[in-house]
Amino acid sequence: MDVEIIELGQDRLPAVVDLCRRALDLPEDAAEAPAIVDALAARATADRPVLALGAVHGTELVGVLIGSMSQRDPHLGHVDLLAVAPEARRRGVGRALLAEAERHLAGLGAAELLLAGNPPYYAWPGIDVRYTPAVCAALRLGYRQDRTAWNMTADLAAGSAALRPTDAERRLADQGVAVRRAEPGDLPALAAFARTTFGGAWDAELAGSLGRPDAGAHLAERDGEILGFAAYGSSRPSWFGPMGTAPAAEGSGIGGVLLRRCLRDQAATGLGAAQIGWVGPVPFYANAAGARIERVFFLYRKALNGQE
Ligand SMILES: CC(C)(COP(=O)(O)OP(=O)(O)OC[C@H]1O[C@@H](n2cnc3c(N)ncnc32)[C@H](O)[C@@H]1OP(=O)(O)O)[C@@H](O)C(=O)NCCC(=O)NCCS
Repeated sequence: MDVEIIELGQDRLPAVVDLCRRALDLPEDAAEAPAIVDALAARATADRPVLALGAVHGTELVGVLIGSMSQRDPHLGHVDLLAVAPEARRRGVGRALLAEAERHLAGLGAAELLLAGNPPYYAWPGIDVRYTPAVCAALRLGYRQDRTAWNMTADLAAGSAALRPTDAERRLADQGVAVRRAEPGDLPALAAFARTTFGGAWDAELAGSLGRPDAGAHLAERDGEILGFAAYGSSRPSWFGPMGTAPAAEGSGIGGVLLRRCLRDQAATGLGAAQIGWVGPVPFYANAAGARIERVFFLYRKALNGQE
């Protein structure tokens, strides 16, 4: 297909959302297209350049790719989103978009390109295995699978395990642990807690969760000292995470209480289920919220400049 690959400005983002609504074959992704595009395209920073490419046929946008550079490793580029209109598939549009992304991100210093989420802003950890054409295209275009990731689904229908009342919060209160909703003013203390306790920088995800519609966070504290937090909605309204409990407070039930508070909030926005994104401790989420593994993702990588 005769397409021109162009860089898209912010003014084209509504057209990107329209295209993603049609081109993301999984309904749960199509439904969240506005939040996904906003989270991926609008969050460039000095150390996280974002690339938005469009494939244009005549005057029509038939394909889109959003990529970015890793904040943690200046030699890694990411493809965060790739979608081609259903009527334009199997005509080289995806290939052309990826080739231009490889060229552009290599120019910014990427030695490798990952078809994988670039935290803190990601819409998927990798390619959902049910996007079979994308799996085929990744393999055909020289990417190799190096990791697998999964989400867990927590049902939020009335009466579900995630929403069942427990007396855990009262037991924590007996031990002097208070649990409450986090407010925007809590951001500096929460970000510092996350950094010193877990070494990771969750500032951006916390900032994306506090004080925004369809997003939020809860925290546990004793005598003003933060013992744990849980957040949801920073990149996608239906996605939960991140969360963390101080190692000294593990096993006290704080994590389960914080998780269920967030899930109750998400249920109150009308969601029938929440996605616990890019999961680590499967048994914890299974026990605390009746969650089950559902979405599975393959993560791919490719050396650029012919390196391996
Ligand atoms: C994945 C996607 C972007 C591919 O776009 P495309 O423009 O159709 O891809 P191309 O025509 O450039 O295909 C490149 C190669 O990929 C492989 N491929 C693509 N679609 C395929 C399919 N349905 N079955 C088998 N192989 C396929 C082929 O080898 C193809 O080369 P060939 O046609 O010369 O054999 C498109 O199918 C899409 O938008 N899917 C839905 C969204 C999605 O899955 N996004 C990624 C998940 S985040």
